Amino acid sequence: MSFWDNLSKPFFVMAPMADVTDVAFRALVAKGGKPDVFWTEFVSADGLYHTREISKMKDDENPLMRDLQFTEEQRPIVAQIFSSKPEMITYATKLVAELGFDGVDLNMGCPDRSIEKQGAGAALVKNPKLAVELIRAAKEASDLPVTVKTRIGYNKESLYEWLTALLEANPAAITLHLRTRKEMSLVPADWEQMKRAIEIRDRVNPNVLLIGNGDVESVEQGKKLALETGCDGIMIGRGMFGNPWVFAGRKPEDTPLALKLAALVELAHNFEKIMPAKNFAILKKHIKAFVTGFIGAAELRARLMGAENANDIEKIVQATTATSSI
Ligand SMILES: Cc1cc2nc3c(=O)[nH]c(=O)nc-3n(C[C@H](O)[C@H](O)[C@H](O)COP(=O)(O)O)c2cc1C
Repeated sequence: MSFWDNLSKPFFVMAPMADVTDVAFRALVAKGGKPDVFWTEFVSADGLYHTREISKMKDDENPLMRDLQFTEEQRPIVAQIFSSKPEMITYATKLVAELGFDGVDLNMGCPDRSIEKQGAGAALVKNPKLAVELIRAAKEASDLPVTVKTRIGYNKESLYEWLTALLEANPAAITLHLRTRKEMSLVPADWEQMKRAIEIRDRVNPNVLLIGNGDVESVEQGKKLALETGCDGIMIGRGMFGNPWVFAGRKPEDTPLALKLAALVELAHNFEKIMPAKNFAILKKHIKAFVTGFIGAAELRARLMGAENANDIEKIVQATTATSSI
C-alpha cells in the first residue's frame, strides 16, 4: 500500500519538467491549488553518484541535490530519476528514500540526445528488457512506490509490446505521454491510444494505475478525457505555465492580469530565496507565460526580460500597474 492507493479517481498530477517544476515553482502551485501528486524535475542518477561518491561534492553545493529540495506542503512528492544502469537506479532510489520522498519515478520518455546516448530516457523504449531490470532495481532498493513515465513507442507506436513489458514488472503507476519518441511534441497527443492502453492494462496487470499525459490544459478537459478513456489519472505539464491555479480548476482566462503579475513577482522572490544558486534566466520562461495575451504584453515582457533580480521584477510590475489600465 502507498499513497497511490488512496487517490480518488480521476486524480490530477504535476508533470516533471526540467527547469520548471523546481521547488520555487512548486511553492506557487501548492498555493494556487495542489495537484494530487507533485513531481520533481528529472535528475541524473549517475550524476548523483558521481558528484556525491566520486567527486565528494558537498550536498549543499551540489546542483543535483538542489533539484531534490522540497517542502512539506509539496507532498505527496515523487522524485524523477534517469539512468540506464540498474546499480545507479539502486543508488539514487536509496538516496531519494532517505531524503523523505514519497515515491520514485523512472524517466523512460525523454528524447534529449545527451540522455538517449547514455541508453536512458526514451532509448529504453527500444530496450524493454533493460527497462524491466531498472524497475526491479528501484523496487528492491527501498519501500518507495516505483512509477514509470514513458511514451507510446519509439519511431512508431508499439504500445502492446512496450506496455505489456512494463506492466509485468508491476510498478505502482505508469504515465503515458501519448506520443512516440519520433513525434517529440510536434503532433497532438493521441488520446485514442489511452483506450487501448487501458484494455492492455486490464488484461495484463489490473493493479497498475495508468496516467494519461499530453495537451491537457484544464481539470475540466482532463475529467472528460478520463471519462472517455478510462484512465485513472491525468498529468498536466505545459498547462501549468502561467497558470499555477490549473489544479484548482482555473483556466488561464479566468485569472485577472493583476493576479498573474503578482504571482510572477512572488515566483521571482521564491526563486531568489529558496534557490539563489540557480540561474535567474530560468525565470524567463515564466515571464513569457504570465505576461501574454493583452495590449502592451510584448513591451512589458521586454522590460521584464532585462531584470536581474526579484526586486527589479517587482518594480517593473509596480510601475506598469500604476501607470496603465491593466
Ligand atoms: C520544458 C519542459 C521540460 C520537461 N522536462 C521533463 C522531465 O524532466 N521529465 C519528463 O519525464 N518529462 C519532461 N517533459 C515532458 C512533460 O513532462 C510532458 O510529458 C509533456 O510536456 C507533455 O505534457 P503537456 O502537454 O501537459 O505539457 C518536459 C517538457 C517540457 C515542455
